[in-house]
Amino acid sequence: MKLQTKRAYNFNAGPSALPIAVLEKAQQELIDFRGTGMSVMELSHRSKAYEVVHNQAISNLRELLSIPENYEVLFLQGGASLQFSMIPMNFLQPGKQAAYVMTGSWSEKAFKETALFGEAYQAASTKEDKYRSIPKLDELQYKQDDAYVHITSNNTIYGTEWKEYPNTGDVPLIADMSSDILSRPIDVSKFALIYAGAQKNLGPSGVTVVIIRKDFLEQANSNIPTMLKYSTHSKNNSLYNTPPTFGIYMLGEVLNWARELGGIEAIAELNEKKAKLIYDAIDSSEGYYIGHAEKDSRSLMNITFNLKDEELEKKFLEQAKQEGFVGVNGHRSIGGCRVSTYNAVPYEACQAFSQFMVKFQKENN
Ligand SMILES: Cc1ncc(COP(=O)(O)O)c(C=O)c1O
Repeated sequence: MKLQTKRAYNFNAGPSALPIAVLEKAQQELIDFRGTGMSVMELSHRSKAYEVVHNQAISNLRELLSIPENYEVLFLQGGASLQFSMIPMNFLQPGKQAAYVMTGSWSEKAFKETALFGEAYQAASTKEDKYRSIPKLDELQYKQDDAYVHITSNNTIYGTEWKEYPNTGDVPLIADMSSDILSRPIDVSKFALIYAGAQKNLGPSGVTVVIIRKDFLEQANSNIPTMLKYSTHSKNNSLYNTPPTFGIYMLGEVLNWARELGGIEAIAELNEKKAKLIYDAIDSSEGYYIGHAEKDSRSLMNITFNLKDEELEKKFLEQAKQEGFVGVNGHRSIGGCRVSTYNAVPYEACQAFSQFMVKFQKENN
């Protein structure tokens, strides 16, 4: 008999909810993976059985994101945070500058690392406005001879998201898409490099996805450590050393699930609906809930808000926890409330939370 498993309303910002169907499949396959008599974790990363898993994950991602042929898909380690240094190490050539668009703490971290390797400057920043918005495209100031322009497509902490990406022409555009990759269709061909930690929309932590244009890859600096060169990983199909095999298996399964849901358009439509439930509760509250992000910069993945006073906010967070909503506290650096509605967070969880918001307001007005 199948036990009824109790699943939390998981609004964690990352690691975050995984699809129940994927967890169940992984559980089923754990002891004897497809007749091998071993779990995926016990397979050699050089075995045929693992090779199928690895290549399937890559081709699933290619298909879902319509990644053009002239791009490589890499599975790296070190999180998105290691990309903050690998990017300038590989692509900030002597005598050139890198332009960073500052939209939150993760852009700040990426920018800070760059100074260790060369010259970087800020192409725009919304810091003065407490990162409530994304700069207008015509406000970006970068130069045609820059090494690259770097953006953070979704700001996990502040709850803002780019609605439209800049056309940087011949200047390579690089994006940290850690918290909104696979949430909506993107035109990969606009970017020279996209990177994302897997632990929000793609799978468990431990895998970092990099999508990189081949001609850009060829321009990389060569005098850097082997493991930190993108070319090392591209030449070896991300099997230069032992990859995080279980994480890649899970990622492949999450992508299978995404395909079965109807692909990226279907996912985007559902994400719009989920976020709307919560934004509507904010907008119809007459100032009881105060959204952090400007309306035109609102994230569909991380919804950030405050209550009109601190005591009430504390009570709200405590009650949310008691009612089984997990991960509703804002990031420790800014406080407030944050609800992360990544792909695997069910519509019903968002509905339950939005109803909770309305009820709490009625009872505590
Ligand atoms: C937008 C963004 N970039 C980078 C990171 C850092 O990722 P990692 O912990 O994989 O290094 C995070 C983590 O939450 C993030 O949200």
